[in-house]
Amino acid sequence: MDPQGFVDPGELLALVDDGTAALIISHVEYRTGQAYDLQELAQAVHRHGGVLVVDATQSAGQVPIDVGVLGVDALVASAYKWLCGPFGAAVMYLSPALQAVLDPGLVGWRSHEAMWDFRADRLEYPQDASRFEASTMAYGCSLGLAQAIEHLNQLGVDRIFNHNLALTAILGEEVRDRGGRILGASGYQGGSAIMSFDLPGENAARIAAGLGDRGVILSERGGALRVSPHLYNNEADIRRMLAELDELLG
Ligand SMILES: Cc1ncc(COP(=O)(O)O)c(C=O)c1O
Repeated sequence: MDPQGFVDPGELLALVDDGTAALIISHVEYRTGQAYDLQELAQAVHRHGGVLVVDATQSAGQVPIDVGVLGVDALVASAYKWLCGPFGAAVMYLSPALQAVLDPGLVGWRSHEAMWDFRADRLEYPQDASRFEASTMAYGCSLGLAQAIEHLNQLGVDRIFNHNLALTAILGEEVRDRGGRILGASGYQGGSAIMSFDLPGENAARIAAGLGDRGVILSERGGALRVSPHLYNNEADIRRMLAELDELLG
């Protein structure tokens, strides 16, 4: 990782060898917004007989993902970030090959093929990912998540991706005009709508708190200001944030 938080994918790939059972990675880095090329990672780990496991919590809903095309073996994502779903629900994808062989580890009465026989003297998993549904779930949350996903799909994740990136492009230009430094910028390829920056001589936590008082919500992460515009934001929001920032810094 360089001092600005960019992880060189080449360095990561160099660590993959025959001793690699699984490469487990966050698709988008929560701090810098760096997005990895999942296809490249999948191909590398598959060459050595391993699997690619992806945490898409910071990407699902903002970055288009096609697990089949990319060759992802397993993927999980929380509902409450870019998927705009409720707390208490999440999604998991397992490739057909993994569904048949992966041991859930944690099991419950619903992990059985014939769960309604209520017998405790056998453990026969279903031949699909439902073997991971150990127990009764928060079904209300799942319905909320399903509606949220439906909504995002109706709008189109491709469109959302482009919309969000147009906002970070404006932000990036304005930050640079103010002498700011964008984290991970050495490798920034516009792979996600998370953008973190710092401003010379300024304390990010103080700015985040000050903006919060003015009704502009962004996060301080690792000494930088993180902005994460999504489908519900527009250019006026970015301009307002910048105006409040300028006023705050006087
Ligand atoms: C990449 C990533 N995965 C997971 C989480 C947290 O997920 P959960 O709250 O569902 O454990 C976060 C939260 O910031 C995250 O950035």
